[in-house]
Order: sequence, then structure tokens, then C-alpha cells
Amino acid sequence: MRVIVDCDPGHDDALALLLALGDPRLELLGVTTVAGNQTVDKTTRNALRILASAGATGVPVAAGCDRPLAGPLSVAEDIHGFSGLDGPDLDIPTAEPANVHAVELIRRLVMAGREPVTLIATGPLTNVALLLRTHPEVVPGLDRIVFMGGSTDRGNTTPYGEFNIVTDPEAADIVLRAGLPTTMIGLNVTHQALATPEVIAGFRALGTRLGTVCAELMTFFAGTYRQVFGFPHPPVHDPVAVAAVIDPAIVETVHAPVAVELIGAHTRGATVVDLHRRTARPPNADVAVGLDVDAFWRLLTTAVARIG
Ligand code: RIB
Ligand code: CA
Repeated sequence: MRVIVDCDPGHDDALALLLALGDPRLELLGVTTVAGNQTVDKTTRNALRILASAGATGVPVAAGCDRPLAGPLSVAEDIHGFSGLDGPDLDIPTAEPANVHAVELIRRLVMAGREPVTLIATGPLTNVALLLRTHPEVVPGLDRIVFMGGSTDRGNTTPYGEFNIVTDPEAADIVLRAGLPTTMIGLNVTHQALATPEVIAGFRALGTRLGTVCAELMTFFAGTYRQVFGFPHPPVHDPVAVAAVIDPAIVETVHAPVAVELIGAHTRGATVVDLHRRTARPPNADVAVGLDVDAFWRLLTTAVARIG
């Protein structure tokens, strides 16, 4: 499957990129970056650092939007650190980002290919929304949008808002109204993907540089998640979206209506998932409601080992 990953690295985005690089069922056509966990300059540098550390310098990277469509940018420095990828000493990027905007790189990659592309988004949906609004000609070339974001229950950044959606609610609303096959991977399942000490030890036991990098990423992530959210172990959100593309059986989904709250004084950015069809809204997304946790970790660890 041909995929493009739009991301805001970010510790869990880093693992998502390694999964996309390491699993043989995916061809990573390109990586685009967006402001979210950190500024877009930092998320772009981090994407290049991850690709360099994985020896994947042939994958094009393009920087995208430096702020949400409507509201202000508020980075997650308390979780991901000043660099956005604090913890391990990753390679200094050897490649430069492409000299085009993320939207233009996605457009070129989609329009150039004969086979459809799956667009995986693991940050705020600003670039994806802008792509759909400025280049509707890409829609026939996209077979699905799979995004990490939202939740069928509570939020993380606000009581009912998950970070990627809260950061750019208008963008999420545009994507969910676009009519494309869409999969939503929310906190309700990603909070099951916990990087326990056993998982971290499994990365170290690979005995490879990348295995050590993943262990160091997760060790940093564990510290900030414990400090900010009181989690005993950090949930690695973003690779669950990639895993759902590689092996859809890993994630149980229901077809349901998802609305994005844009004006709620206390709930702006909430994903309102009508699981019991209490409204007249038509279903517009396949919403993740279950995760095969063991299969997920096997997939991720195997992919990291395969990169070497
Ligand atoms: O709420 C978690 C999501 O927000 C993850 O994608 C994390 O990387 C941040 O982007
Ligand atoms: Ca992310």
C-alpha cells in the first residue's frame, strides 16, 4: 500500500514513521509536516532526523502549515520537549526538506501515481484540510484518510478535546465533511497502546541503534506523560493509525457519524461520535473502538527490528 504520512514529530509520530518505513506492506511515498506538538520548523527537522536515523534519506519531506486554519497554535512542549523530540541523540539531518509546501508535495505524489494513496495524518489536520480545499483533483487518487485524533469519550488537551483536533477544529471539520473514506483512531483506543517497561525493554533487546533510540524516546515520553497526566506508562497514539492501515484487523471500527464541535464554550474541538445513532446525521467515518494490543506491539517492534 502506497502511503503518505502527515505528522508533527513528536515522540509517537517518530514511532509511526518507523512503522511506516519498516513494515514491508507499506511504501512510504513522502512525509509532510505540520505545526502541532512543536513549531513546523521543529517538526520538519525532527522528521528529517528520524528518516536519517533510519537510513531513509530518499523519502521526500515537505514542511506545511505553521499554524491552524483559524485559532492560535499552542505547542505541546511539556510533553515532547523544546526540540519536540527530546531524549535520544538522533542523527543530524543529512537531507533538506523539499522546496515546496506540504500540500504541493502531497498533490504531486498523488497525481503522479497510478495506484491510489492512503493519507495517514498523525498531527493536526491543517495540511489535509488545505489540500482538500485547494486541490480537490486529488480526491480520486486518495483511497482513504486515516487520522489519529479525537475520542469517543474524554479528551486530553481539554476535558473533551484531543490535541490534534483541539489544535485545529476547523481543519478536522473540513476533513470529516469531505466525503472520503475516513478512519478515526481516537484516544479511546490509543490509550490502550501503553509503552510499558516491558515494551521499552523489548526495544532495547533488539540490540540495534534504532531499538535503543525507540527505548530512549519512550523513556523521555514516559517521564513527561507521568508528570503531566499521571499516566504510569505513555500511550503511543500515532503508530496505531499506521498499524490500522497495515493490518485493519488490529483495530475494530464502527461506521458512525462524527461531528466536530466548533463553538462550544467548554467543548470546542470535541469529536462528537454518535455511536448509538441518536441523531439524523449520516455516518462519515470508521471509528476505532477496539485494539489488539499485543498484535500492535508485535507489528511495531518487528518493523523497527527490520530497519536495523
Ligand atoms: O493527542 C495525541 C496526539 O497529539 C498525538 O498525535 C501526539 O503526537 C499529538 O500530535
Ligand atoms: Ca502527532
